[in-house]
Amino acid sequence: MTVTYDFTGKTAFVTGGSAGMGAATVRAFAEAGAAVAIIDLDGDAAQKLANELTGKGLKALAVTCDVSDEDQVAAAVRATVEAFGGLDMAFNNAGVMLPPVDSADETSEAFDKIVGVNLRGVWASMKHELKQMREQGSGAIVNCSSLGGLVGGDGRAGYHATKHGVLGATKSVALQYGQRGVRVNAVCPGTIATPMVERMTAGGELDPKGAVAAIPMGRLGRPEEIAAAVLWLCSDAASYVTGVALPVDGAYTAQ
Ligand SMILES: NC(=O)c1ccc[n+]([C@@H]2O[C@H](COP(=O)([O-])OP(=O)(O)OC[C@H]3O[C@@H](n4cnc5c(N)ncnc54)[C@H](O)[C@@H]3O)[C@@H](O)[C@H]2O)c1
Repeated sequence: MTVTYDFTGKTAFVTGGSAGMGAATVRAFAEAGAAVAIIDLDGDAAQKLANELTGKGLKALAVTCDVSDEDQVAAAVRATVEAFGGLDMAFNNAGVMLPPVDSADETSEAFDKIVGVNLRGVWASMKHELKQMREQGSGAIVNCSSLGGLVGGDGRAGYHATKHGVLGATKSVALQYGQRGVRVNAVCPGTIATPMVERMTAGGELDPKGAVAAIPMGRLGRPEEIAAAVLWLCSDAASYVTGVALPVDGAYTAQ
């Protein structure tokens, strides 16, 4: 079955939009008719993807932005609204992973780095998206947590702390905006075949066979499977869904 959405006339904002599940979501939004702002630290990759999409007659804008810098996030939201006239949907997806470490040895620099991107970045993105959405009285936000937002991870205290934090922020904003036309949810991806996981595999941090063996569905997820969940959460089909942390993980966290 192919599920399609019609987001014609809507604007989407995707952070970390030039690679992995962010890029898959950008493509899915654009193909469903939305104008998409591709927000990424890697401005060249964002521009390349925007060119590919506009070359096909789709609507896209690349914005270079480090989500750990609130001023850059505010400017990215402003640029999106100026270009497309509003902001209807957001996927706050930019995130980083650092090598596993004994928690007795985790440096404050590493902790600050991961909190800066994964938690502060989501906080700043939501804050500035909400400034626009509360004026409109409408919008749908999806934050990217992780299976790491639902369970612990050996050697990953900093990362899992940020992903648990994303869920706390998601639920809190969902409560506040429940009667103001804005829905806020999170996806909790399992292990998904993206450049992040390729780097972890290349660096010996992740054994792909072991990872697959730990997943009840017996395979890694695909970036498009995260995009599909994000589009559903942003669509009217999810009109009564808010404050949810949705695992998309092949039942990893059901164990
Ligand atoms: N891949 C997985 O298995 C997995 C599982 C659970 C959660 N996640 C989460 O999903 C999200 C996306 O992961 P992915 O695997 O697609 O990652 P990826 O590394 O493949 O892509 C991430 C993108 O984010 C961008 N980015 C990184 N830091 C940024 C910053 N400071 N500001 C703006 N953009 C920045 C990168 O340039 C890149 O384009 C992350 O939040 C990650 O923690 C990934």
